[in-house]
Amino acid sequence: MHVQAIKYEPTLFSDELYQRALLLLDPESSARIKRFYRREDACRTLIGRFLPRMLLHARGVALLDMKFGATEAGKPFITTSGVDPSIAYNVSHDNGLIAIVSSANTHNPPAFTIGVDVMKVRIPGRESFASFVETVGDQLTVHEHRLISSAANQQEGLERFFWMWTAKEAYTKALGLGLGFDFRRVEFDPALDVLRVDGIAPSGWQFNKFRVIQGADNYQGVVAEFVGGNAASIVISESSPQEWLSVLDATSFIENAIQELKS
Ligand SMILES: CC(C)(COP(=O)(O)OP(=O)(O)OC[C@H]1O[C@@H](n2cnc3c(N)ncnc32)[C@H](O)[C@@H]1OP(=O)(O)O)[C@@H](O)C(=O)NCCC(=O)NCCS
Repeated sequence: MHVQAIKYEPTLFSDELYQRALLLLDPESSARIKRFYRREDACRTLIGRFLPRMLLHARGVALLDMKFGATEAGKPFITTSGVDPSIAYNVSHDNGLIAIVSSANTHNPPAFTIGVDVMKVRIPGRESFASFVETVGDQLTVHEHRLISSAANQQEGLERFFWMWTAKEAYTKALGLGLGFDFRRVEFDPALDVLRVDGIAPSGWQFNKFRVIQGADNYQGVVAEFVGGNAASIVISESSPQEWLSVLDATSFIENAIQELKS
């Protein structure tokens, strides 16, 4: 399993680079990107489209041969023929971070049972922490509410909330279900690193927590992957060594990708 995270700082990502990158994408991706009203949203999706293309490039696939499909709920997957072993992947983006997880997962092709979610740790808008938690409160279990309210301080409460949220998202994205899944069915205790679905630790799952610091911003992410077997799920803490995580800045990533994909 590998996670590549791209740090995106809008003021450093030029319009000229955006236009040049857009020209390399397929018509569907390019149309979706151009539909965004805000350039930042467009750029995040643009970078997210280059990430799986670079995985295919590393396997020797030419840009014109790269083909993608999506499930009914919209989970993208690779349909390029001859990619062996297959590449399981999932993308997530929030504010200044875009991340892709990839692995040799073989469960549930073609979209595979793998998902990632990243989020910036912050209270959106001008809300107070209490009103923010109340807004999303019906997506949390009683135990999760208790863990947030018993945190030592607001920062710890906020971090606990975002571990819960990214774990729920990553799990449902791994299943490919997205918003169609009741988030209260997934309960994550980030203090003990225990995840339960419908009250039981699901067998054969692995969850990896990670953190990316970008200047003053703190991002938290979770990878959820069904690895098989009957063992109870395991949660790998963000404090474990993360040799599977690499971080690059968006401008160098896209400059390099354009050069590589054109060659
Ligand atoms: C997909 C979804 C979970 C994204 O959640 P999010 O936390 O807001 O966004 P993230 O940045 O983590 O992930 C977005 C990426 O996940 C991937 N993705 C899209 N749908 C997905 C799905 N069902 N499962 C897993 N991954 C999905 C895409 O790569 C997407 O990137 P893009 O929008 O730039 O193409 C959410 O939008 C959703 O639930 N969509 C489902 C839509 C749905 O239920 N449709 C019903 C069928 S018509």
